[in-house]
Amino acid sequence: MRKISPARNSRPFDYAQPGDRLHCGKVSIAALARRHGTPLYVYSGDQIVERLGMFENAFRGRNHLVCYAVKANSALAILKLLAGRGAGFDIVSGGELERVLASAPEAVGRVVFSGVGKTAAEIDRALETGILQFNVESEAELELLAARARRMKRRARFALRVNPDVFAETHPYISTGLREHKFGIDIRRAPEIYRRTARSKWLEAHGISLHIGSQIRSAQPFGAAVERVSRLARQLAGEGIALKTIDAGGGLGIDYHSRAFDAAEHVREYAAAIEKALGGFEGRLLLEPGRFLVAQAGALVAGVLHVKSNGKKTFVVVDAAMNDLIRPALYQAHHEIVPVRRRSGRARAVDVVGPVCETGDFFARDRKLAPLEPGDLVALLDAGAYGMAQSSNYNSRPRAAEVLVESGKARLIRRRETMADLLAVEST
Ligand code: LLP
Repeated sequence: MRKISPARNSRPFDYAQPGDRLHCGKVSIAALARRHGTPLYVYSGDQIVERLGMFENAFRGRNHLVCYAVKANSALAILKLLAGRGAGFDIVSGGELERVLASAPEAVGRVVFSGVGKTAAEIDRALETGILQFNVESEAELELLAARARRMKRRARFALRVNPDVFAETHPYISTGLREHKFGIDIRRAPEIYRRTARSKWLEAHGISLHIGSQIRSAQPFGAAVERVSRLARQLAGEGIALKTIDAGGGLGIDYHSRAFDAAEHVREYAAAIEKALGGFEGRLLLEPGRFLVAQAGALVAGVLHVKSNGKKTFVVVDAAMNDLIRPALYQAHHEIVPVRRRSGRARAVDVVGPVCETGDFFARDRKLAPLEPGDLVALLDAGAYGMAQSSNYNSRPRAAEVLVESGKARLIRRRETMADLLAVEST
């Protein structure tokens, strides 16, 4: 067994010793900010690869495929990096499919297509390119898939995304596995649908899939959900419908608060729960991690514009905003904020806010931070997942640039948008 030492679980953004400057690997964050400006996303490619390795290691005894959830961070360079290490992809739109084709066309046979609202055009493109499997979310979608497959004369491999009706403790906006949610097909209806399609010329009952939610910290609900679908797979096998894949979805959480988080141990527990639940299933296990692979590899670097005090409160106004990283505003999410250059001085409770004209435009409230001054830089940690991917141009703010650091070398993987980029698609 390959041992992962505790040091390899550490966050990639750290202070170089000696010195008080934040680095990503050997690369100085201040130097990157000088070169590319702020706000700036910085990712450690090394950590992304390490996290993929943890997954591979934890599931090494089983025929499996890690299909990275593109929605977490769809940067082409990151997709290419992961595809090069053998990963497949979980996509939820035609746009994400085009990203896979643009960055790693050879990986298209390792793509699963999820999502509640696939259009005929998206289905056609996915059939044409030969993806691995459609994760079908409703009977209506299955009918559409059959019709498109017939038209294109290509047999469609599908998995029903069933709703296992398992509760997982997480933010209500990112919980998906209960009957009241819009996702999936009631697991009790699934057997009949598989039986019905078993004779279809254009549909191949290829697998069964589930996804119970995101940022789930306990292994137990994953085990419970997979157990339900593997029981169903066994039942179907008994009827002569042998499914080739069980897709356990994504959702494995991270710790946004503690530096002591042991990611390798976390994924081992997760793998053990899934292994146990799979029983004797002999097909291929698919996994769709997003956040776990990329969140802690990324930081959003921002410059301090002003420090203002209204007597009662102190506000640190930075040049990044909710349009760059919406997680605090949308999910009350916590991101650690660290100075790029450490300063001495007593920590004080401040609000870290952006320039957007909304009260919800904050990154932290009453956070104890060492003194900051205009011109200083700060890094918002664990911002690699659902950061840039959920960014917008709100307040006509061009989106941030992105840098990828690999083996001590940094390269720009997305240039900062310009106002000309934004205006180019409009007319008066
Ligand atoms: N598979 C499916 C079908 C999904 O819907 C998702 C995420 C994933 C996989 C990946 O889940 P992960 O491993 O990243 O938890 N924007 C929110 C998270 C939304 C998750 C949506 N679905 C956030 O920033 O917390």
